[in-house]
Amino acid sequence: MALQRTFIMVKPDGVKRGLIGEIIKRFEQKGFTLLNAELMTINRTKAEYHYTEHKDKPFFGELVDFITSGPVFAMVWEGENIIEVSRLMIGKTSPAEAAPGTIRGDFANTKAENVIHGSDSLLSAEREIENFFGLLKRNIADDDFRYEDR
Ligand code: TYD
Ligand code: MG
Repeated sequence: MALQRTFIMVKPDGVKRGLIGEIIKRFEQKGFTLLNAELMTINRTKAEYHYTEHKDKPFFGELVDFITSGPVFAMVWEGENIIEVSRLMIGKTSPAEAAPGTIRGDFANTKAENVIHGSDSLLSAEREIENFFGLLKRNIADDDFRYEDR
């Protein structure tokens, strides 16, 4: 049993193509719980922090341009082993490798604009949730939570 939280984001191409509902549906059907969601356009500071592990890669500039080019749909989801399972549901980064049945396998055509982001570890999930939604505050009951705005 490993109840985890992860950060899932429909990227600007996915929002423009009307894929928010399809993506929420897949996570709901899998039995995961949506804890928070917001349509937002992020600034370069937030985008650069989000992709900080890639800051020295040749594609970093274009990646930040792309992710700030229009609204994203940022979400926090909870479920058993959701970090590993959501990465399986999302599929490989490259559309040539993303298997049919995965979100990228079914909807993505390019590596740069690949519809969706999902955290790859507990540590990045925590960091990414805080970057987009602020600190998670726990009070009273376990399921009573709120996010403090940054
Ligand atoms: P990465 O963390 O490797 O992939 P994932 O999103 O599957 O965790 O890369 C982050 C994003 O950077 C990726 O979703 C799309 C973009 N990217 C490129 O544009 N070109 C590339 O060669 C790679 C590896 C990633
Ligand atoms: Mg990644």
